[in-house]
Amino acid sequence: MGQNTPHLMDNCDQYPDSLVRYFIEHYTEIGARVFDPFIGFGTTAFVAEEMGRIPYGIEADRERFEWGAGQIEHWQNIKHDDAANIAAHDFPLMDFCITSPPYMVANGDWNPLYSGDPAYDGYACYLQRLEYIFTQIALVMKKGALVIVQSDNIHDEVYTPLVRDFHNLISKTLTPQAEIIIRWTGEKPEYHQDYEHTHCLVFMKA
Ligand SMILES: C[S@@+](CC[C@H](N)C(=O)[O-])C[C@H]1O[C@@H](n2cnc3c(N)ncnc32)[C@H](O)[C@@H]1O
Repeated sequence: MGQNTPHLMDNCDQYPDSLVRYFIEHYTEIGARVFDPFIGFGTTAFVAEEMGRIPYGIEADRERFEWGAGQIEHWQNIKHDDAANIAAHDFPLMDFCITSPPYMVANGDWNPLYSGDPAYDGYACYLQRLEYIFTQIALVMKKGALVIVQSDNIHDEVYTPLVRDFHNLISKTLTPQAEIIIRWTGEKPEYHQDYEHTHCLVFMKA
């Protein structure tokens, strides 16, 4: 999938097929509904469908949405919208969710959850919105379903403890179960040179 991503798109935040494949194989059955509210280039949907699961998802960016949905048979299950509007889409209850929210640095202004709309600048606003989005995600999960959130701490001019912050805000709605550390192996993509590993936070809908 990664190899086929169009060149014009900035694919710095796409996760590898192998990460999704691992979790889907270990935590879901054939026919399971697999949800990704930040579907990006559609990695979750593509892999889920390839493994006989039914993908659902949301993407706010039109270009990514069109490209991602265009890769799969269940394209009608992918919605072009803000993940905060999950409830507007009449999704069925999901068996499993795996996702990677857009990241933000703690000293930044540009809030990726609002496409940089200056009315919503700042890290505090970003965390607050993400917290709300996870309350909406929880509403479409079956009782006992797992939600996997891939995250990294950002080592930039300022250190951003995203893994801790994601844990804290999501724990208000979903029950934390575990943190799985994945070590990247093989040749690292250019955009992952700084990271030896990534964190997958595991939550459950109680
Ligand atoms: C980290 S990327 C996900 C990449 C994806 N896992 C993949 O492998 O392609 C996060 C995505 O969330 C999208 N996004 C940002 N704000 C959003 C929002 N409010 N609702 C839904 N999607 C949003 C971005 O456009 C971006 O494609």
